[in-house]
Amino acid sequence: MALQVKKIALLTGGGDCPGLNAVIRAVVKTAIRRYDMEVIGIEDGFSGLIQGRYRSLSLADVSGILPRGGTILGTTNRDNPFHYPVVEGGKKVWRDVSDQVLANLAALGAEVLIVVGGDGSLKIGKELFAKGLPVIGIPKTIDNDLLSTDITFGFDTALVTATEAIDKLHTTAESHHRVMVLEVMGRYAGWIALEAGLAGGADVILIPEIPFTYERVCAKILERRDAGKKFSIVVVAEGARPQGEEMVVQRYIPESADPVRLGGIGQRVGEEIEARTGIETRVTVLGHLQRGGSPTPFDRILATRFGAAAVRLAAERRFGYMVALHTPRIEPVPLEEAVRELKRVSPEGELVRTARDIGIGFGD
Ligand code: F6P
Repeated sequence: MALQVKKIALLTGGGDCPGLNAVIRAVVKTAIRRYDMEVIGIEDGFSGLIQGRYRSLSLADVSGILPRGGTILGTTNRDNPFHYPVVEGGKKVWRDVSDQVLANLAALGAEVLIVVGGDGSLKIGKELFAKGLPVIGIPKTIDNDLLSTDITFGFDTALVTATEAIDKLHTTAESHHRVMVLEVMGRYAGWIALEAGLAGGADVILIPEIPFTYERVCAKILERRDAGKKFSIVVVAEGARPQGEEMVVQRYIPESADPVRLGGIGQRVGEEIEARTGIETRVTVLGHLQRGGSPTPFDRILATRFGAAAVRLAAERRFGYMVALHTPRIEPVPLEEAVRELKRVSPEGELVRTARDIGIGFGD
């Protein structure tokens, strides 16, 4: 008979999102109450795993954290054990320190590592699994860009934040007869822009999957003006780009599993609209507000289901999987499959079609 798992390690990696604390709580409660396991919380994602920073998590540690945004364990979207900066001879060089990670976990006596992460962290999890470490993944990200799950937790809360922002921009746009541009996050996928744009009644939605032209964007705004609508709302995903141009990169972080940070396209779109239409235009960048705040009930429930399901997999010694929502069930998907490619908006899909049917422009 297979040995019973007694100790699991848990880390939250990559950009934070609402619902991480709900996952931590579910993992700790299920592990302790159902299986009598010990849970070791790794601090600050892979960084804590490399540097050996961790603490045991008790039921008291997770009491009251369900509605709190962020992660009590801390996180980072910079440190990758397969590409880690160390100083040698006064110079910064990049080293594979994954053996150190395996040694640290072995010294801890942790038999399983649960990685709560997005694409970058789960890819690292997949590589560690390939090296022989028993890993289980839990999909989180506001971007909703993971292939094998219907939805990631964190997305719903970000969507509510972005939709509320559009609602607020609507009233001031209407009063001042302005164009309001809202830049939202999402990396290489347009899910937040598309769904918040639909929920908030945007007039133009620009997403990475549908490159746009300024002519078409402005034509839509002028068409509205000619029909008596003196204001317009334009939602721009940070990864949106004009046809024939590259995405706008804000910064580059070489040690990160995904080194590119996007941002800045909203400002360019706003300037072009004002110059081409003569309509006063303002730009809002929603930024990290989308990652904060208390998780919605949907995200709390999904995070709780994912956390409990991951511990059940650990107890069954089924490693190398990510838990996924295949409505209405939570099911394991091989990590390899989960990170094979990003889930992006289909330009021919039903959501885009619906948006077009009700008159929303995509600038194409
Ligand atoms: O992946 C989550 C996310 O918020 C993206 O939407 C965004 O592009 C990125 O992280 C921002 O990263 P940082 O927190 O490093 O600015």
